[in-house]
Amino acid sequence: MANGFASKKIAWRMLINTNKNTQNNNEFDIMPKINEQIMNHTIIIAVDGLSAAGKGTIAKKLADSLNFDYFSSGYVYRVIAFLAYQAQLDIHESNIKHTDFTYKKLMEIGCTLTIDILLEHISKPQHLETREISQYSSIIATIKELRDKLIMIQRHFAVGKTGLVMDGRDIGSVIFPDADYKFFIIASQEARAKRRYEQLKNSMYDSKNITYQSVLSDIQERDNRDQNRNIAPAVAAKGAIIIDNTYDSVTATVEKMLKRVKLQNTLENSWNCAIIVQ
Ligand code: DC
Repeated sequence: MANGFASKKIAWRMLINTNKNTQNNNEFDIMPKINEQIMNHTIIIAVDGLSAAGKGTIAKKLADSLNFDYFSSGYVYRVIAFLAYQAQLDIHESNIKHTDFTYKKLMEIGCTLTIDILLEHISKPQHLETREISQYSSIIATIKELRDKLIMIQRHFAVGKTGLVMDGRDIGSVIFPDADYKFFIIASQEARAKRRYEQLKNSMYDSKNITYQSVLSDIQERDNRDQNRNIAPAVAAKGAIIIDNTYDSVTATVEKMLKRVKLQNTLENSWNCAIIVQ
């Protein structure tokens, strides 16, 4: 966190440290006021990680336990991918260079994206979770200019909130580099493929022609693209705690994260008090 704690943050920190029940359950020059408001008033927890590592479920549970809001940044890319798919754009790594028609159209979709459009799609998201849209979103996420355009819309979700848990790939590195807490979730490719396969098998959109092997190869392809792209790659941000959940349940993973939040919280409070006493 930047300079000192705002009162809302101090109040929350004191609450979480005393309430035993809780346990159970770079480009800051654009729109500086919004950024300042977020940094001073909203407690941000960044949950980044690899595809199908369970980030969404984990981050949502973490948010519920802390009574925070939750947002999945992957939906921003998925909605653009879906709108591009609807517009019958041919999304392929070879035709998204600056001079390509597809690039221009994708930028147009990105620049006209609003919170309302996003929320409308997210309210019933099954059409965003197909294999095809997963691959398209990973391809369009490699476009730097598009990512830059999407920074503020993602930050906007923190405005006016006490606390926000956001999951994605670059939340702790680009969207909220000064996040109060940062996690990076990993799991073996096989464990992730198994979980995603079970999920897709039960989906009304994608249940046909799904095999474990096809899901595993999709994950390998997306890992390769997401981790090796030049801009905002999916790697642990500076200061992030890496959590491997290959063998852990969602509940066990969330408990580990809650412990880390409380530990860091206690250390920061005692440090803060020591300064005040002096
Ligand atoms: O988290 P997800 O699987 O819903 O994300 C879909 C794709 O969007 C992912 O393959 C990469 C991209 N993405 C990204 O580049 N940065 C984010 N913060 C979130 C998602």
